[in-house]
Amino acid sequence: MFKGNIVSAILAVSENNVIGSDGDLPWRLSNDLKWFKKNTLNKPMIMGRKTFQSLPGILPNRTHIILTRDPSFQGEGNPVATTMEQALEIAAKDANEKSVSEIMIIGGGEIYKLFADQIDRYYLTRVHTELDGDTFFGPLAEASWRETFQEVHRTSERDDFPHTFRILERKTE
Ligand SMILES: NC(=O)c1ccc[n+]([C@@H]2O[C@H](COP(=O)([O-])OP(=O)(O)OC[C@H]3O[C@@H](n4cnc5c(N)ncnc54)[C@H](OP(=O)(O)O)[C@@H]3O)[C@@H](O)[C@H]2O)c1
Repeated sequence: MFKGNIVSAILAVSENNVIGSDGDLPWRLSNDLKWFKKNTLNKPMIMGRKTFQSLPGILPNRTHIILTRDPSFQGEGNPVATTMEQALEIAAKDANEKSVSEIMIIGGGEIYKLFADQIDRYYLTRVHTELDGDTFFGPLAEASWRETFQEVHRTSERDDFPHTFRILERKTE
């Protein structure tokens, strides 16, 4: 929790813990993009500078908060933070203004690690394949998390691999 807000991370990860390759996602999963949109809409999103630069463009109706160590970084009009605490402060203010109560951490690898102790909830898409990559996540200590949602999807014309949407809540005791 940060100032009354749930702090959530959203990510897609292969069976061998890959989340990225060469500055991009290593798969094409149209279904996962819809899941991402549904779960981030109207909420502040915190991301690393590299993930920001990997986006195809600004995603509508979501504040993009960019984390960088470079205080002169120009974020194309989006808020820029140089520490985790500053990013959370900006996000909490945005959440309050929009009357939402969830802050979304959207990657990439460095940022998921940096925020690991702050995360209350994961929206975790498990991509059922093993592939090469250069950016990794986890593995999560499953015993510390309670699954509250699971939905299995097959490969389709627009989805390269079978995948499972999961929501995991941090166990409190
Ligand atoms: N599968 C998924 O769900 C998913 C989601 C998001 C991203 N990705 C993938 O992940 C990859 C990018 O991840 P990444 O780990 O290379 O980069 P990243 O986490 O997106 O960004 C790293 C940058 O964040 C800034 N940063 C890191 N720690 C910081 C700190 N303590 N304080 C201030 N700034 C800090 C630095 O920016 P400066 O260098 O500017 O200082 C650093 O270079 C891409 O391949 C992307 O496609 C996958």
